[in-house]
Amino acid sequence: MKTNEEKPKKEEPVLDKMEKIVSLAKRRGFVYPGSEIYGGLSGTYSYGPLGVELKNNIKQLWWKKFVSTRPDVVGVDGPILLHPKLWEASGHTEGFGDAMVDCKECKKRFRADHLVEDATGKDLEGKNEEMTKVIQDEKIKCPNCKKSNWTEVKDFNMMFKTQMNGIEGDIYLRPETAGAIFVEFKNIVDSTRIKIPFGIAQIGKAFRNEIVAGNFIFRLREFEQMEIEYLIHPEADWGILFDDWIVKQEEFAMELGAKKEDLRRLEHPKEKLSHYSKKTVDIEYKFPFGFKELYGLAHRGDFDLTKHSEFSNEKLEYFDQDKNERFTPHILEPTFGVERSLLLALVAAYEEEKIGEDDERVVLRFPKKIAPVKVAVLPLSKKEELSKPTLELFGKLNEHFVSQYDDTQSIGKRYRRQDEIGTPYCVTFDFDSLEDKAVTVRDRDTMQQERINIDNLVDYLKEKLN
Ligand code: GAP
Repeated sequence: MKTNEEKPKKEEPVLDKMEKIVSLAKRRGFVYPGSEIYGGLSGTYSYGPLGVELKNNIKQLWWKKFVSTRPDVVGVDGPILLHPKLWEASGHTEGFGDAMVDCKECKKRFRADHLVEDATGKDLEGKNEEMTKVIQDEKIKCPNCKKSNWTEVKDFNMMFKTQMNGIEGDIYLRPETAGAIFVEFKNIVDSTRIKIPFGIAQIGKAFRNEIVAGNFIFRLREFEQMEIEYLIHPEADWGILFDDWIVKQEEFAMELGAKKEDLRRLEHPKEKLSHYSKKTVDIEYKFPFGFKELYGLAHRGDFDLTKHSEFSNEKLEYFDQDKNERFTPHILEPTFGVERSLLLALVAAYEEEKIGEDDERVVLRFPKKIAPVKVAVLPLSKKEELSKPTLELFGKLNEHFVSQYDDTQSIGKRYRRQDEIGTPYCVTFDFDSLEDKAVTVRDRDTMQQERINIDNLVDYLKEKLN
């Protein structure tokens, strides 16, 4: 193992892991606060050059695992703006939201259930009167101004409203992608030969006017979901399918880098289930701010298709030709957040590694499949006799892998920069390369270096990156 790597700058203020990740994400072009030059827009973020690659890799990995390699799942890409009746049918217009409470002193708004739970440990979600009483009786302090002067707890609908030419009344930005799947159930059944059980998958934006956004990209007002509506026969042995979906969801989280022990299942107690749901489980991940919901899985019965059928006057049934049987399928819904996946990937990958006595590096140990940059191509010196052939090599590698060319500062500093963004391989072209037509390939995780013939380089990297 070579040790030509320079020491990183030291003596930065002590930050916790989350602060370090947020800072690295901005500094290196993964995630920027939304509309920052105008003072920011809370609950929105932009994804920079590395963030967009990482996000796309996560979505592609998901699509490959759950759609393109499965004969029983098809994809759809529906609109964000959907007919307002759809949200009446699904119950969102009536009651999609959380309970909120305002501090009368500093005017800050909070989720009432979170405020009560943080202060008392009691879970009173859905019980507004009780929450109002507990907040008043126990004189819960405002987390912002520390006073205790509250409004009553009220329901707050989280859907964003907008208008559309030619349509009376409100149009909503979809608060989940699922609605756009249900409305296409009939078209999909009519236009494909897919047989039950089967899934319809979609990746897309969703919007929620969250009472309190926060924890970086954990709770956002604009985000993306990856959802599947998996349609089954009403009498199918759904327990086995349900368990299989949970395992697959956990598997996906582990493919993004999660350790098994950092995942746990939280089954919703019977009394908290929606009337139509037989079972709902949250898959939680141990984020630096505690175990929190990463993904979810719900048995939704025939609620969605029945309701949409009622409100649209369209028959939303499945006809099994072999059995000459017509029925309304039941639905299992595995749902995944894209940004929570991205946050998991950053958290799981982040490592400060001690090297030797007094040296340290920050390395993002992304699984290679999702690393935003796969290969860095580095000329040992900026001299034209090296930069010219290195740029040629860079052009060749870029056709196969997302690559970066970097010729500034020492080779050790360049390795550190690539470690910090999780690049699995650095390829260094040196003066010997002109003679022996070989380059040095350095592995991000082991820091081992190997001399590889340029003619074999693409195949070598392909094998390593697979
Ligand atoms: N169709 C079911 C549904 O939307 P959900 O639990 O409300 O269920 C599904 O959301 C997933 O979407 C969550 O598990 C989470 O990963 C993600 N998600 C939900 N709200 C979010 C928010 N405000 N910001 C970021 N991701 C969110």
